Amino acid sequence: MAHYAVRESPPLRGEIPISTSKNAVLPIMCGALLTREDVQILNPPDLTDVHTLCSLLAACGCQVKKENGALILCARDFKNPQDEEDVRKMRASVLVLGPLLGRLGEARIPLPGGCAIGQRPIDQHLKGMSALGAKVRFDHGGVTLSGRLRGATIYLDMPSVGATENLLMAATLAEGITRIENAAKEPEIVDLASFLISMGAKISGAGTSTIVVEGVPSLHGTTWQPIADRIEAGTMACACAITGGELLLSGTRTEHLRSLLFKLSEAGIHIKDTPGGLLVFGRAKQPFEIRTMVYPGFPTDLQAPMMAVACKTPGTSVFLETIFENRFMHAAELTRLGAHIRVENRVAVVEGTPFLTGAPVRSTDLRAGAALILAGLCAEGETLVDDEAGHIDRGYCRIEEKLSAVGGNIVRLPDQEPDG
Ligand code: UD1
Repeated sequence: MAHYAVRESPPLRGEIPISTSKNAVLPIMCGALLTREDVQILNPPDLTDVHTLCSLLAACGCQVKKENGALILCARDFKNPQDEEDVRKMRASVLVLGPLLGRLGEARIPLPGGCAIGQRPIDQHLKGMSALGAKVRFDHGGVTLSGRLRGATIYLDMPSVGATENLLMAATLAEGITRIENAAKEPEIVDLASFLISMGAKISGAGTSTIVVEGVPSLHGTTWQPIADRIEAGTMACACAITGGELLLSGTRTEHLRSLLFKLSEAGIHIKDTPGGLLVFGRAKQPFEIRTMVYPGFPTDLQAPMMAVACKTPGTSVFLETIFENRFMHAAELTRLGAHIRVENRVAVVEGTPFLTGAPVRSTDLRAGAALILAGLCAEGETLVDDEAGHIDRGYCRIEEKLSAVGGNIVRLPDQEPDG
């Protein structure tokens, strides 16, 4: 539940500390269910998705504590979640399936419905679990998996990030050897595998399309610092490209952002790796073409922020979205600011315009919300971003504070009292 007032801003200048990755920390938190011992996660990002998962884990009987900025999870005794609402709030909750099944021999969750950016089925998760020997039963709007897991070869029809993570976790405690073929290669998968290895798991090949897991009888506790958020860093790099400033994105690694950085440099942005982080400077001057792909291709999560950049970049930029079927909802909202965008199925064509003007707009999903804030930074007058559903807080830690610290004209408006 948030509203932001954004105004045209001078070139952004200064340092933005990049938070710990949301998409790395969520599976790692679920991975804590694989051991009876304490798992300490350092610097978890202060995001509503993390809070939602904490309450879901607590509802499973996992102890959840915060100490000196670290999150300490202990799943000595735990059970399946009883309240289906907790699971429904967030798609990433599906990642408890693998650990629950691995440790308890039974897991049940409500089936996730469609979401704003598309259907997002979980068939690949279930197909993999079934190959590992789980019985899959659908009833009363949920899915129940049961059985003792044995290693197997699993071929994913598409390299799904979530399915790879779920199967990787389940396989750590399965008897024998599991091979996951056509696995996702995202940096968050490598981080999850390294975290599980630090708990005693035997995993090789993470970051390639074949991951091999040799099951072990149990895992032990660990302390882990997940990687920095490449999507937050990429969004901030886009903010710089829009205002033509100079930003140091501290704590970021260039290697995780190469596809974005290539595109930004095609657009005329300068990028330098420095000991303090990634230095980005300049304004986007040339149009670009983007095709979203699985890693190391261009991330779908940065398609919306890059579309905000394209709106004011001279020339015609083209976007092809190949991962999700309905991920151009921000285009209609950007058009309200004066952007010239045509969408045809999975293609969006953006004609850059020198003038955008502020207007009330609505955030339709997490990355769309960020894109609207970025566009507001280069639109004349005031852009009111209505994020009633709280999408932006799910994935960006205090975005208004980070942007205003480097010169962005953005404030979060106080919550309105309900009428009456
Ligand atoms: C993760 C990220 C999300 C990112 C996405 C793609 C987290 C918490 N979220 O989501 O930010 O946008 O990767 O990089 O890490 N699919 C199926 N069947 C399945 C699973 C997926 O058809 O069983 C399809 C989905 O509908 C989608 C595509 O595969 O079209 C990608 O999904 P997936 O890689 O699983 O994304 P998530 O793990 O949900």
